[in-house]
Amino acid sequence: MDAYQSAKEEIKRSANIAELIGQYVQLKKAGQNYLGLCPFHSEKAPSFTVSPSKQMFHCFGCKKGGDIFGFWMEYHKVPFSQAMMDLAEKYHVTLPQRKLTPSQRKKMELRESLSDINSMAADYYHHILAATEEGRQAREYLDKRSLGREVVEEFLLGYAPSGWDNLTRFLRGKKIDMEKAVQAGLIITKKGSGYYDRFRDRIIFPIHNIRGEVAGFGGRVLDESLPKYLNSPETPIFHKGELLYGLHSAYQAIRESGRVLIVEGYTDVLALRMHGFKEAVATLGTALTKEHIRRLKGYAREAVVVFDADTAGKGAAIKSLPLFQNEGLSSKVMVLPEGDDPDSFINRKGLDGFLNCLAESVPIFEFYLDLKLSGAGEGIEGQINILEEMIPVLSDLHSESHRLLYVRRLSERGGIAESVILSELRNHRISDPGQDQERNLRKKLSGTRAKGLDDLHMLNLFVHFPHTIGRLMDGDCRLLLSDPTVMELFEFIHEIYKKGEKTTPDAILERLEGEAARERLREAMLSPPIYPDEAVEQALKELENKVNKIKLSESLIKTQGNLEEKNRILMLKRDMQG
Ligand code: GTP
Ligand code: MN
Repeated sequence: MDAYQSAKEEIKRSANIAELIGQYVQLKKAGQNYLGLCPFHSEKAPSFTVSPSKQMFHCFGCKKGGDIFGFWMEYHKVPFSQAMMDLAEKYHVTLPQRKLTPSQRKKMELRESLSDINSMAADYYHHILAATEEGRQAREYLDKRSLGREVVEEFLLGYAPSGWDNLTRFLRGKKIDMEKAVQAGLIITKKGSGYYDRFRDRIIFPIHNIRGEVAGFGGRVLDESLPKYLNSPETPIFHKGELLYGLHSAYQAIRESGRVLIVEGYTDVLALRMHGFKEAVATLGTALTKEHIRRLKGYAREAVVVFDADTAGKGAAIKSLPLFQNEGLSSKVMVLPEGDDPDSFINRKGLDGFLNCLAESVPIFEFYLDLKLSGAGEGIEGQINILEEMIPVLSDLHSESHRLLYVRRLSERGGIAESVILSELRNHRISDPGQDQERNLRKKLSGTRAKGLDDLHMLNLFVHFPHTIGRLMDGDCRLLLSDPTVMELFEFIHEIYKKGEKTTPDAILERLEGEAARERLREAMLSPPIYPDEAVEQALKELENKVNKIKLSESLIKTQGNLEEKNRILMLKRDMQG
């Protein structure tokens, strides 16, 4: 066994895999093993298994598995060499030098040096903020915002002085390769030659990854000038779609409470922390992604999102709904008074006021429903709008019990009978889900149907399956017709049917007078059947359903404003469809 291999074995012996993975994924003991929700794919029932005796993990859902190195590589998205180094450091094992392929070595070294440069810059900015005359203004700014020593130290806040090349000169003095500093996003190449600092005259918020390394930076102006914030660009170690501000320092608290609060701003995380609330993380000025949520799922059982009360904030809340649903992390929305963000709110109301408001958080679905109800409009149009919006969302829910719960809520809040919602859900799931759904629903509810299609189908059913005439007549399917000639034909059949006389196609043709109608009937009798025998029942049902929808919408229009009456009618229609 070479020295590298034996170091690897030593790390494996020192590490307790359940304890290590348990820092990132919530695990529950299940016999000899531990079980949790897989951080590598979305699931709602735990199939991610960790075996301390075998020193292995395995997910029965996505089949990912391996030892601690495999976990570290997958979870932190690092190559094996990096995993070895990280874990060696964690468990105090000394690594011998190892031969890597040139490209592996290059990548690893790049990541390492970017991380080192970031760390150096963070310390530099922090020093300027904490201990220099240049940093006075920034200190006063933070004081004014009640961001005290605790967070300045814990989050390594800093200040980038004004002037074009302070950091550039500092890094040069440290013999740093300027091209690397460019790759780290800290300095920028000038048009002619030379470099200048990206961050100037800004409060600096280092953004740490979960391993506590500085992956990138955010910088805020001290006044009202724009842009208010500047972030590092994407680099080999800075991915905005995966990182969450503050997570490196919050994950213990999040694991303990099982709850994570997702806010929009760095200063929100810090203000909350100043007041003793440690469970908050912030996105980096970009939308929430499934990678964010997967990461959080390892620590939290529930996420609460706080978005601005403005329209953009509400939009963002709504966009996040399917993400949480699909990742199986239960989610709520905390609604702050108009004009407040968590920072301003907790500074006005204190921790207690904040916690009270947090306790009022509503499940994200309810929030969504409220929003839709308030924007849907009145009457039948409004109800159609709401159904159009809500049916796809309901249909996408993973859990049947949640779905039924939400159907009831929608029914109560929207004044639409549960049976109607459930039947729409069934239709949605049978029909091609997606694009056509809205059009279908509108068509059914409003009665503006594809011209002539039902005429053709009804006529064809009648001539090839004469026994269907009872269903067609009793189901009032004539209401679906749009072609005047076919209407005339079915009116005639209806007359005969009502008298209880013979309604076979031959018998009708014999007695029918209008030439156009006779022609249409003959034509239909000569054309092949559209439906095979076994599809006839389904075809009839579809026609009957369509009619019921039309009647329903007409009744709703008539009883506009009278909810009880509406629901009575909706129930009646359900019974009719039985
Ligand atoms: P303060 O005004 O310092 O309290 O910050 P805030 O977090 O309340 O600001 P705001 O609600 O306007 O923005 C929320 C988040 O969006 C910030 O923390 C940034 O991550 C991001 N953001 C805001 N303004 C800008 C900008 O001009 N450029 C970029 N790239 N991001 C921004
Ligand atoms: Mn703010």
